[in-house]
Amino acid sequence: MSPIQLYFLEFLFIYTSKLLISLISLSISKPINEDLGNGIYYIGVNDDNLRQFEGQYPVEHGIAYNSYMVIDGQEVAIFDTVDKKFKDEWLNNINKRLNGLYPKYLIVQHMEPDHAANIDEFIKKYPKTTVVSSKKAFNMMKNFFKTEYESNRLVVKEGSTLNLGQHLFTFVEAPMVHWPEVIVTYDSLSKTLFSADGFGKFGSNNHDEDWDDESRRYFIGIVGAFKIFGCR
Ligand SMILES: [Fe+2]
Repeated sequence: MSPIQLYFLEFLFIYTSKLLISLISLSISKPINEDLGNGIYYIGVNDDNLRQFEGQYPVEHGIAYNSYMVIDGQEVAIFDTVDKKFKDEWLNNINKRLNGLYPKYLIVQHMEPDHAANIDEFIKKYPKTTVVSSKKAFNMMKNFFKTEYESNRLVVKEGSTLNLGQHLFTFVEAPMVHWPEVIVTYDSLSKTLFSADGFGKFGSNNHDEDWDDESRRYFIGIVGAFKIFGCR
């Protein structure tokens, strides 16, 4: 066999192996379960190509921007938006899941753009939806979007509740669980805490890995760094 033939065979072997490994990885990666039970659906997006979160934290497996929809009979609430880059994918996820319903509430728990960048785009599409958030968050919206949604908003604080049919949401202020305006929401029906940045992790949902390491790294870098400002 000539050196050229050997080189060609080696080339073929290496790239066929890489292709097979990629196909096997794809076939064993678990698709995320979007139906979380009790009328709660995952409508977030994955940023698999991101390699540096906030320009400083290496993220080998990207990141997920989490957003959820709660459907209770004919009533719908949406928790948080996603990064600006994924506006169309997120709105498409919403449209598919709504299946003809209209969102009653957009609950904004955190104003950092990876959670909140698409509030204005959402309201342009669904102008009758009520925006639910903390007073501090509405102040930030005025800076971000030149409006506090005065005509269609609900300001909530520590202990405020909101009924969505069978679901009862209780809001808890969580200042400096990254930023000062943060609220988290407890749903009594499903016993679910919608926790904004709390309990987050690096890594997209397309990458199956142990939770511990990346959630510790996320906590230390994103949330723990602010505990001196009164994180409780
Ligand atoms: Fe954040």
